[in-house]
Amino acid sequence: MTPTPLRVMIGAGEQRWDGWTPTQQADLNLLEPASFAAYFGDRQADDFLCEHVWEHLSVEEGERAARLVFRYLKPGGLLRVAVPDGNHPDPAYQAVVAVNGPGPAHDHQVLYTLDTLTPVFTQAGFGVQPLEWWDADGTFHHADWDVRDGPVYRSRQLDHRNAAFRAGVGAPGFTSLILDGWKPTGMA
Ligand SMILES: C[S@@+](CC[C@H](N)C(=O)[O-])C[C@H]1O[C@@H](n2cnc3c(N)ncnc32)[C@H](O)[C@@H]1O
Repeated sequence: MTPTPLRVMIGAGEQRWDGWTPTQQADLNLLEPASFAAYFGDRQADDFLCEHVWEHLSVEEGERAARLVFRYLKPGGLLRVAVPDGNHPDPAYQAVVAVNGPGPAHDHQVLYTLDTLTPVFTQAGFGVQPLEWWDADGTFHHADWDVRDGPVYRSRQLDHRNAAFRAGVGAPGFTSLILDGWKPTGMA
């Protein structure tokens, strides 16, 4: 019998996706290696999914968190990460996601772009592939990523605010900077 893959959402909040185990900061704290040791023991996850969490850490904390997640990911496994996109051209979007912004953004510590988020994960050993992002000239880019590898709600593919764009009308509404980080095979 094929074992069920261990696919873990970090900082899930109220999000639930079939096949994914939601965890909260009290279960897996990206800043507390002991929480990962207690949760995983000798195990490693097949995949991790983490939507709109990394921006709540400083860059230095985010780098440490990337190394921690790398350690608890199986070789060949995927970490899919989404954060607010610092290059999104809409001022209303930027107001909502700003560092120390309103409501849930009150503890946002950093606003990433593709250029600044990528090294957070490459320094930890991940191979990185961008999935959705805006460039500095205000052009939106996306790869044809598979939601079965990790659904990200605030994305071109899934967010209700992008329905018109998906239908071929206008610009995207609410998107995220989304990356896949792969742990190379052959690494423990
Ligand atoms: C804006 S909410 C996003 C929740 C959910 N992922 C979503 O997309 O709706 C930010 C989440 O990050 C979590 N978080 C903040 N710091 C964290 C940390 N150090 N380790 C794990 N989760 C953390 C919070 O507990 C919260 O659930």
